[in-house]
Amino acid sequence: MTQATFGAPEPMSHLDAPSVIRTKRDGGVLSDDVIDWVIDGYTHDRIGDGQMAALLMAIFLRGMTRAEIARWTAAMVASGERFDFSDLRRAGRPLALVDKHSTGGVGDKITIPLVPVVMACGGAVPQAAGRGLGHTGGTLDKLESIPGFTAELTKQQIRQQLCDIGAAIFAAGELAPADRKIYALRDVTGTTESLPLIASSVMSKKIAEGTRALVLDTKVGSGAFLATEAEARELARTMVDLGAEHGLPTRAVLTDMEVPLGRTVGNAVEVVESLEVLEGGGPADVVELTLALAGEMLDLAGLDGVDPAETLGDGTAMDAFRALVGAQGGDVAALSAEALPLGSHTETVRASGSGTMGDIDAMAVGLAVWRLGAGRSEPGQRVQSGAGLRIHRRPGEPVAPGEPLFTLYTDTPERLGAALSELDGAYRIATEPPAQRPLIIDRIT
Ligand code: URA
Repeated sequence: MTQATFGAPEPMSHLDAPSVIRTKRDGGVLSDDVIDWVIDGYTHDRIGDGQMAALLMAIFLRGMTRAEIARWTAAMVASGERFDFSDLRRAGRPLALVDKHSTGGVGDKITIPLVPVVMACGGAVPQAAGRGLGHTGGTLDKLESIPGFTAELTKQQIRQQLCDIGAAIFAAGELAPADRKIYALRDVTGTTESLPLIASSVMSKKIAEGTRALVLDTKVGSGAFLATEAEARELARTMVDLGAEHGLPTRAVLTDMEVPLGRTVGNAVEVVESLEVLEGGGPADVVELTLALAGEMLDLAGLDGVDPAETLGDGTAMDAFRALVGAQGGDVAALSAEALPLGSHTETVRASGSGTMGDIDAMAVGLAVWRLGAGRSEPGQRVQSGAGLRIHRRPGEPVAPGEPLFTLYTDTPERLGAALSELDGAYRIATEPPAQRPLIIDRIT
């Protein structure tokens, strides 16, 4: 076998994309050389979107062996730069670099309160974050609803922020550029829900971003990319092992994603809810998950002595968030429910009877919000900051006839009909509260 050379001006002559696609289509295993050639070729535009989309669909349908996933991930890491922040110091001490990444959920705004909590506890978070993927929202799309906020940071800016304030949330840029292209292509080709593609996407960014420890929030349930607990466990195990193979201590937490997190789903609405959490309020599930993940991150980073819950009560996490937003060009004065833009057109779904709100299907809510304009149907499309949905009655809460259950927001009223259709059958008003499920299902180390 010949070794592929990254950045080589000429493609390897004995490989061709149709044969690679056919191999995977027919259930074959891709060799290391082939994987290196594909990732390098796609990164440098020698393989086009059409052929890559076909290969991604074949991977989606046929899966990958552990060895293929490991090589695909390593090739994506090698497609760009790998940051190293181990030389950085604050008050003469090395930074406690630690990050978290979610496999994607509905209403999953946890990064927004979590990063400031960890900053306030002495951690340093170098977070390469993503945009919306499929029916799930992306941290960058949410944060960019803050006027002026930019995620396009240079390496020097990231280094400076880590030293000065203890965090940077940035678009991956030159980190794992293969993932940037593949992620955008998966988003619009129905190939998001694939264990090998999720594991390699998450881990290539996290290995390249320069964190020294990682906590993964692996979602389980209707609103997750992998719906069954068995699949989510396998995803978590695969990612934890990939971390170990690359010298990155990684721990995974399995968390419930049958119902949306919190009371808001969308872009600006989720920032508003995150501000409530940072002010010491907010929905109980968002607070619980934020603090649980903060605990895991601090433990993995070897930081003890500060109770993360205190930082929500005493305003230090909010101060850290303001510092982060300000450092990234955001208008700190706009950090309020009144100032953040919600869609100019709204529709309210009201209860037709009385009872108790049953489970709310997270996938249906995610799709409704995507239809309102919070996500993309073409690569690079602009999302609406104001698109979103507010949940007035969470599962288990009492409902009276005529009461509002959901409010939908969009700037394009013609989108409301399709979004309302997604919500049809997505919830039910029951006589009994739904069975309680734990939010945190398990930890995988
Ligand atoms: N987050 C990522 O970075 N990639 C995925 O595929 C899913 C979640």
